[in-house]
Amino acid sequence: PEPGWSTRADVVVIGSGIAGLTAALRIHAADRALKLLVVTKDVLNAGSTQWAQGGIAAALGPEDSPADHERDTLVAGAGVCDLDAVHALVTEGPAAVHELIALGTVFDKDPDGELSLTREGGHHRDRIAHAGGDATGAEIQRALIAAVERAPEIEVVEHALAVDLLLDGPPGTGAAVAGVTLHVMGEGQRDGVGAVLCRAVVLGSGGLGQVFSQTTNPAVSTGDGMGLALRAGATLRDLEFVQFHPTVMYLGPDSHGQQPLISEAVRGEGAFLVDFEGNRFMQGVHELADLAPRDVVAKAITRRMHEAGHPHMWLDARHLGRGDRAESSFWERRFPTILATAREHGVDPVTELIPVAPACHYASGGVATDLFGRSTVPGLYATGEVACSGVHGANRLASNSLLEGLVFSRRIAEVLPGELRPWAEPAQDSRKTGLVAGGVRRRLQAVMTEEAGVLRSAEGLTHALDAIQSFVGDAESAVDQDAWETTNLVTLSLALADAARLREETRGSHWREDHPDRDDARWAGHLDTVLVDGVT
Ligand code: SIN
Repeated sequence: PEPGWSTRADVVVIGSGIAGLTAALRIHAADRALKLLVVTKDVLNAGSTQWAQGGIAAALGPEDSPADHERDTLVAGAGVCDLDAVHALVTEGPAAVHELIALGTVFDKDPDGELSLTREGGHHRDRIAHAGGDATGAEIQRALIAAVERAPEIEVVEHALAVDLLLDGPPGTGAAVAGVTLHVMGEGQRDGVGAVLCRAVVLGSGGLGQVFSQTTNPAVSTGDGMGLALRAGATLRDLEFVQFHPTVMYLGPDSHGQQPLISEAVRGEGAFLVDFEGNRFMQGVHELADLAPRDVVAKAITRRMHEAGHPHMWLDARHLGRGDRAESSFWERRFPTILATAREHGVDPVTELIPVAPACHYASGGVATDLFGRSTVPGLYATGEVACSGVHGANRLASNSLLEGLVFSRRIAEVLPGELRPWAEPAQDSRKTGLVAGGVRRRLQAVMTEEAGVLRSAEGLTHALDAIQSFVGDAESAVDQDAWETTNLVTLSLALADAARLREETRGSHWREDHPDRDDARWAGHLDTVLVDGVT
């Protein structure tokens, strides 16, 4: 639809988690004369950052080093990481975390006053800083929002869905960013669809977990930034690498949408997986056993679920805090959020096993970026989960995601003010994007979970692609937020299933039952996705 209102800003930041707010704060600090607008689909703290439990990884301990962190990141990434991007992440990580502390984030400390560091899957050192026990993301989000509130020059627009980029020419021809259209669920002058003319857009809009029926991601994670970038001609990369978190609380076959995460840090503190006979099935699977990289643990659980015909396995954390620490008080101090959530769902982890199954957790792929967050569309930058900087490869190392948002947003702010383009006129938009009605969402999620989830095959993925095309065709919709989101979910589902079908091997979080081996001769590189004639 035609924009009903318009405004101007030099830079529009889309998203308000660690990636978006860090980008806004750092760009503001780099050039206070720039007019900055932060737009967010819900309220400022509704995104994934708020939900992060385990923490943020960085070589902060005396025994640790960026080189060790780099090694663990590359091993988890299974041969698809970009070496320079990983190097930037691990070497700049410690300073970036200290900057968060200077900004007001309060991390947990040991009795001796040093940062308390824990371990998660795939790490050979204790290097995960955490806050409020298991409420790390919430504390970081709180501190970032407070910092944005201290900078009133940064304008924030909540309840604003970014719909599409405005470009100065046809998409895919090198056309640059000239603005962005928003659908604002507001009132007064900025209600409904409008346009912000701008010189650069920074995407920090998070992931796509809602493509699947069960996910740890909040309801807002509908792939909007990736969909918008794809329609603007940007290259997306590594979409097939979707990480399933091994230990998500199983709430029954009909449970749908965001599910409770049981942080890997619980295993870091000594919890372990058992099957229905009480066997510790991770022993012997990997040298790190229950703390193997996430893909290894998710696969082992899935295998055991299939063999045993059960929809979940069990996490035994009853022994945590035994010995010199009283059990309940250890849980209350170290994992207060998980304790309260599990109890709300009728399980007391202090005395009972927790039912767990893998669920969608993190998109390792996204908008392809260089070392400074630049996408392939001039003037479009991306950071955090929406981006594919190359640090995660085929499988993200635990707690590297908050760090990625932090480090690459800082990098964007280093270059963006100096390379801002002159104002450009948006070209006439001849793209035809039919909107898909929200009613197809559940069917889409069901077919993606069944055929493009943890375990994949050519047959299943082809079925998914055909099924999605068939039920999308006649589901044109009115213009509303549900339809914009569902359209993005459909776009991303097709692109993801197609990439997963093309990659005929098993690597990292991508598991093909018809191609069970890793094939470095054919598949060591990235798979790019671009939009051709409106279809991926
Ligand atoms: C967790 O706390 O297990 C999640 C950490 C992460 O996804 O990096």
